[in-house]
Amino acid sequence: MVDHEGEDSSPADGFGHIPVLLHRADELLGPALTVNDPQGGGAVMIDATLGLGGHSEHFLRTYPQLRLIALDRDPHALEIAGGRLAPFADRVTFVHTRYDGIEDALTQTGLPAEESVHGILFDLGVSSMQLDESDRGFAYSIDAPLDMRMDPTTGITAAEVLNTYGHGDLARILSTYGEERFAGKIASEIVRQRAKEPFTTSAALVELLYRTIPAATRRTGGHPAKRTFQALRVEVNGELDSLRAAVPAALDALTVGGRVVFMSYQSLEDRVVKQEITPRSKSKSPEGLPVELPGMGPEFRILTRGAERASEQEVEENPRSAPVRLRAAERIARRSAA
Ligand SMILES: C[S@@+](CC[C@H](N)C(=O)[O-])C[C@H]1O[C@@H](n2cnc3c(N)ncnc32)[C@H](O)[C@@H]1O
Repeated sequence: MVDHEGEDSSPADGFGHIPVLLHRADELLGPALTVNDPQGGGAVMIDATLGLGGHSEHFLRTYPQLRLIALDRDPHALEIAGGRLAPFADRVTFVHTRYDGIEDALTQTGLPAEESVHGILFDLGVSSMQLDESDRGFAYSIDAPLDMRMDPTTGITAAEVLNTYGHGDLARILSTYGEERFAGKIASEIVRQRAKEPFTTSAALVELLYRTIPAATRRTGGHPAKRTFQALRVEVNGELDSLRAAVPAALDALTVGGRVVFMSYQSLEDRVVKQEITPRSKSKSPEGLPVELPGMGPEFRILTRGAERASEQEVEENPRSAPVRLRAAERIARRSAA
């Protein structure tokens, strides 16, 4: 089963957003953030998904020596968070990039791409601001142009996907990224409908989904548009490819004692994270040897047992935390040469 992000509204923090698992993220990253870098200054942290800057603000306030490199692919998020984090401007470097650009972001900041960072946070997915901005097309509950690009300066829109992809590719996307049972049927309807009139806004797609997905499934499967909208967003933003490239880059960037926290909102993202961190937490020495061979020991220690979920209380206070799966790891040895 793939878990899906919903569009539940959450109580606002003045920026329309409550940072998910903030206390837990601090508990996990904190021990790595109190170091004093011999080069001068405090620890270096990367917020790979700045969003509205909720997590970043907390870390900057809590760790007065912390230097933060804040990444987001959405220029509007950088603008809003830039205003929010203005009181800490001398300790923050903002970089407009996809998170798989970590290496370049570090180079721009004058830091080596390997083993130079003490803490990294990934709070994946879409932000409440992106869902709430009606003209972005992320929300199925608002009729808007079918855009869905997190970075509106580049790439193709959801409407272009719907109007140009073949039946096979549409069905594959809906089935893989949305685990939509009716992927084939929906793809056929999309192809039929666009021959009459190309898709431009979300209402036409939502109406098609209501028509195509049997009412009986709707009662158990949540909103009929949820899976299709998620699938389109993952495709438009190349989310899984970006994450697959970003996790190894993030792990490489951590210094010994450095820690990383990943918060995923769909099981597909969580699987990518798990697949990347698990092998690095295992010994490469041949089994059965009484001692670890030099350079063959695990590079990372996993700090979480499986994927942690939000407590019932947090879900009640902040419904957006319901699907979250958190994993964390600490670098315990330098990279082996192999
Ligand atoms: C859930 S929000 C982060 C919220 C943030 N932690 C806070 O407290 O305000 C996720 C953010 O990650 C950004 N994002 C998603 N995929 C990205 C990618 N591949 N590269 C860079 N940023 C990305 C989105 O634009 C969005 O602003």
